[in-house]
Amino acid sequence: MRVLMPSIAATLFVFSALPTHADTVDAQIAPCLACHGVKGQSAIPEVPSLGGQPVFYLTIQLLMFRDKLRVVEAMNQVMQGFKDDDLRNIAAYLTKLPPPDPAGGPVDFDRMARARELSEQHRCNFCLASPASAKSTSSKPCANTKTTLAAVTMRRWRTCFT
Ligand code: HEC
Repeated sequence: MRVLMPSIAATLFVFSALPTHADTVDAQIAPCLACHGVKGQSAIPEVPSLGGQPVFYLTIQLLMFRDKLRVVEAMNQVMQGFKDDDLRNIAAYLTKLPPPDPAGGPVDFDRMARARELSEQHRCNFCLASPASAKSTSSKPCANTKTTLAAVTMRRWRTCFT
């Protein structure tokens, strides 16, 4: 994984010192929100917001992190020891947190047009639509994903599949 910011590294250290997980979802989720934002809306560029993400998507990601099918060291480490029911309960909790607000700032219409063209060409919108128009329950609403994070994640997926 990329170089972790000091705050992330500190949280990771606390996590690695914990031998087992707490019993309640509130307690289990507290250390997660130190990285992912108190209301599930991350303030750290490399860390995604989790609020409002589809429950099925979240559950699958948590399972993949735990079983190291999605390889990101920080997440693989924190997910160790969770049972399947824990993953379902955590996902059910996170999906109810509010989604992040859309990014502010000026709109680059040329860039948006190019992005739309690419996403149609590669059929991204088949799964990754907004929650209201999502065609699959596993889809993730990407509309509010931070630019830096989206680029990092897409680069990682590309490396996985080529
Ligand atoms: C040390 C910081 C840190 C902690 C603590 C942490 N995460 Fe993460 N999490 C990350 C990072 C960084 C990513 C982005 C991984 C990537 O680049 O693909 C991530 C990704 C995720 C994702 C995937 C989101 C997406 O959009 O695909 C989920 C779900 C998630 N974390 C849930 C959790 C849960 C639940 C916990 C607590 C049990 C937790 N995280 C604790 C840093 C952290």
